[in-house]
Amino acid sequence: MNNWHHLAQQEVVGLQTKVPLLDGRLIRYINLDNAATTPPLRAVAQAVQSFLPWYSSVHRGFGYKSQLCTELYTRIRYLILNFFGADPEKYTALFVKNASEGLNKLAHRLPIAEQEALSSWMEHHSNDLPWRLHKQAKFIELTPEGTLDLGDLETKLKTSRPRIKLITICGASNVTGVVNPLQTITELAHYYGAQLTGDAAQLAPHFPLRLAGPRAAIDYLVLSAHKMYAPFGSGVLIGPRETFRTGTPAEVGGGTVLACSREQVVFAPPPDRDEAGTPNLIGAYAFAVALQWLAQNNLTRLAKHEDQLTRYAFTRLQTVPGLVLYGPSPQRYPRIGVISFNLEGIPHGLVAAYLSFEAGIGVRHGCFCARPYVHHLLGLTKAEISFYESLAKTGKKCELPGMVRISFGFYNTKEEIDLLIEALKTLRAEEKRIKNRYRIDPVTGEYLPTSGKVKMFIAQHTADLFNLRA
Ligand code: ALA
Repeated sequence: MNNWHHLAQQEVVGLQTKVPLLDGRLIRYINLDNAATTPPLRAVAQAVQSFLPWYSSVHRGFGYKSQLCTELYTRIRYLILNFFGADPEKYTALFVKNASEGLNKLAHRLPIAEQEALSSWMEHHSNDLPWRLHKQAKFIELTPEGTLDLGDLETKLKTSRPRIKLITICGASNVTGVVNPLQTITELAHYYGAQLTGDAAQLAPHFPLRLAGPRAAIDYLVLSAHKMYAPFGSGVLIGPRETFRTGTPAEVGGGTVLACSREQVVFAPPPDRDEAGTPNLIGAYAFAVALQWLAQNNLTRLAKHEDQLTRYAFTRLQTVPGLVLYGPSPQRYPRIGVISFNLEGIPHGLVAAYLSFEAGIGVRHGCFCARPYVHHLLGLTKAEISFYESLAKTGKKCELPGMVRISFGFYNTKEEIDLLIEALKTLRAEEKRIKNRYRIDPVTGEYLPTSGKVKMFIAQHTADLFNLRA
């Protein structure tokens, strides 16, 4: 084990956890699904544990503990703004439960009319559906290999009527990991009188992201703490205070008003106006501790390690016969450690099942809540897409197109990638025999081993989790 892995073992919770395999062995779990969510940092878990005796209400009590919690909550907001280089005089940070909620809130709140928002066809549904529903957005086209078509972006900015008021794109894709040039796009947006929202859920954990660049500052950022080693249900929407000074909040309730009588309601200034109900202080605190840890441990250095892993994995995956990779290689285009692939002739669901049940490797498969992008990368025709949509509408999930995705955190290692490659090569070599060990679950469409052993283990384990002793 190298030094890096040794350090990570101490810093991240659960890296030594063993899981059962189909053949009865217990094996150390390899998590290659960090784009979905990351395990907690030990520093975060410890901080939360130590804080719990002090936990009390925020803005809703005058006992010592409440005052402490209110002060802490205020400081957390400043710490988060500071981490992303956002001036607290100009920007506010609204706590949400994740990036999806942040984007929904923003789509609801922005005082722009229909068809004035421009998203892209590579977005996660969270940065697509809110704009379709609230604003009937337009979408930036993609190049054949799956990067943003900057020419199309500029054409749409120049020619759209009504004029585009907001561009909303991901910092990095949750499917291919390609990194979008947020700074360049911000400059372009501002030149054409638009603002920019960066869905930074995937990028921020892997890149020292700041709002302000040398020539322009990103207007809005959304983030999920659970992808940044703090899975306690928190996220943040950062944006100009001015935006949230007026208008009706998406949710209303306790804490959002300055005054409320039978006759009238006066909403509070930001951030309170947009934070209805008792806030998730534990989640916000966990997030702040994680950010502090990332700053102290040099996020740039962590990102460099992930970049090495990504390049290594990309090269090694190409040695697996019949493996198809999506998106440009990291040698040609900036990417974070998110890689999607298929093994020709083997359904993506079966690859994921084999890796889970027979190699103890956790990956995600399917369309990753980014269907238009996956359709594009797979080169599906309109007829094929509509065929699959009709299948999906009838609840049939087993024949749907998709991919297998691996994604890295700073704690992953080359040795883990080697184990993945070994497993994929075994699957390829013993394809026929392995396929016979699985059946498709008619309800979920997932591939499950014909033997129910691992599922029984999961059921027992779940029951045990409720069997707590005081
Ligand atoms: N957005 C997360 C993913 O891509 C959940 O898996």
